[in-house]
Amino acid sequence: MTIAITTASGQLGSAVLAAVVDTVGAHNVVALARTPEKAKGLGVEVRPGDYDDLDQLTASLQGVDTVLLVSGISPPAERIGQHRNVIDAAVASGVRKIVFTGVQGPETGTPFSPVIHVSLETEELVKASGLAWSIGRNGIYIEPDVEYAATYAEHGEIANSADDGRCAYTTRPELAAAYAALLTSDQHDGSIVNLSGATLSQQELAERIGSVVGATLTYRAMSDAEYVADRSAELGDFFGPIIAGIYQGIREGAYDNESDFAAVVGRPHQSWDAYFAGVEI
Ligand SMILES: NC(=O)c1ccc[n+]([C@@H]2O[C@H](COP(=O)([O-])OP(=O)(O)OC[C@H]3O[C@@H](n4cnc5c(N)ncnc54)[C@H](OP(=O)(O)O)[C@@H]3O)[C@@H](O)[C@H]2O)c1
Repeated sequence: MTIAITTASGQLGSAVLAAVVDTVGAHNVVALARTPEKAKGLGVEVRPGDYDDLDQLTASLQGVDTVLLVSGISPPAERIGQHRNVIDAAVASGVRKIVFTGVQGPETGTPFSPVIHVSLETEELVKASGLAWSIGRNGIYIEPDVEYAATYAEHGEIANSADDGRCAYTTRPELAAAYAALLTSDQHDGSIVNLSGATLSQQELAERIGSVVGATLTYRAMSDAEYVADRSAELGDFFGPIIAGIYQGIREGAYDNESDFAAVVGRPHQSWDAYFAGVEI
């Protein structure tokens, strides 16, 4: 039973790959990578896996039983075709099951919604593929906020447009555990599962990050327009509004979701007390 992991050179892909290797052994796992030399150190067979190259993907998925499609990072208009390539390649090469890493979020009305739309469209392609499937909808990674902690401390605050909305956060290692379970067990075949931990408000996040950096961080709510301008100044006119759209979605309740993590992994998601106790800055 060979399990292939796409974007194996990436942070999520490599974490899932390590968790799957722990479960089924390195000889049963294949790494697919757009840049194969970046995946050399993973201790498994590496094959080329560029989402833009259908023929290459089809060749690389030969002999594979189950494949993980990690959501791409290209702009939404290109991303859907890339996802379609992976699904079509899986069908053409006789793969039995596909698992997709989708994302929770606002379906309409925010600048992040086109990304959610691609995720939902991909879910439909996966379901219509004729393969066995399962789909995870990821919460928001908490790591980028922790990596940003020094900047928050410099400003003395976290400021964004989420206001008092609650957000289902998660971590890449916890997602890795969940996807390893979906890839190696058929228990959740034909299901869409929310993969996230307990929800946090931005005020709670500010308190937790403040305690890690030894500073008092306050939370300040911004309007959508202010926050789009703020993010665009730092990240540019493409990614700035997309990131701001996530926070609009948090305020509007799109991330205030129940999680299926415990049912998938067989234990609760790591608590935020435990996670932040292990954070070193
Ligand atoms: N839930 C969240 O909060 C959140 C936040 C950020 C991202 N995401 C999603 O989660 C995914 C994984 O995140 P991450 O942190 O692991 O990202 P990451 O570390 O930046 O990794 C991105 C991976 O995508 C690969 N890639 C880029 N273009 C590709 C293509 N055309 N074909 C095949 N592979 C390609 C990269 O390969 P190279 O080594 O060749 O560059 C790299 O391995 C992202 O793709 C995004 O959809 C979710």
